[in-house]
Amino acid sequence: MHKVIKPKILYFGSPVVLISTRNEDGSCNVAPMSSAWWLNESCMLGMSERSQTVQNLLREKECVLNLPSENMASAVDKLALYTGRNPVPESKAGRGYLYEPDKFGIAGLTPQPSDLVKTPRIRECPVQLEAKLIQVHSFEEPSSIMAIEVKIERVHISEDLLMDGEIDYVDPEKWKPLMMNFCEYFGLGGKLHASRLAKIFAPTRSQSAANASS
Ligand SMILES: Cc1cc2nc3c(=O)[nH]c(=O)nc-3n(C[C@H](O)[C@H](O)[C@H](O)COP(=O)(O)O)c2cc1C
Repeated sequence: MHKVIKPKILYFGSPVVLISTRNEDGSCNVAPMSSAWWLNESCMLGMSERSQTVQNLLREKECVLNLPSENMASAVDKLALYTGRNPVPESKAGRGYLYEPDKFGIAGLTPQPSDLVKTPRIRECPVQLEAKLIQVHSFEEPSSIMAIEVKIERVHISEDLLMDGEIDYVDPEKWKPLMMNFCEYFGLGGKLHASRLAKIFAPTRSQSAANASS
């Protein structure tokens, strides 16, 4: 039997992203978010324009999308209920958010220079995606949420996540993303079933051989 309900949130499970952006004074902000989806070389981010992150993204037109692994849940949670925005927007202050200029420091994260953007990456994250702003779409009024389209310009990946003998293929058996499922942190369970789609993106024999021998 199904029941009709009115849940407060519809967070049915998506990977956590730590977005690093540059503040106006050149320092760096980092914020957790999880309303992100990926297609081709693009990512669509759903974030409130009241966040420091969105203000920084609109001004600097670049960011780094750092993907934490499941063992980084406690570092990510240290960032919850902080904002890099000063003064704290009223709606957030009422919910207990505090201003924090040193988010890297409070979460024990380390900035690492990027190649193509001025925003630093987060060293502890096994996946770091340098990105540039493409366009911004508004949500239906009166929402403060924006859908922000960014293009991934460079992918940095921890070597131990690569398929054996491959240089451009992430092994899904090795990558353990941190997921937000409603408001709790989860990892992924193990693989349930092979996918027919996987064949399309599998390394070709000739590529595998070339990579293995190089
Ligand atoms: C795990 C997690 C996921 C979140 N996902 C989102 C999200 O998808 N969109 C959003 O606008 N805020 C999200 N938030 C809240 C932001 O992190 C929060 O608004 C934060 O204050 C933004 O920081 P900033 O103002 O320094 O940019 C999330 C928070 C956590 C802890």
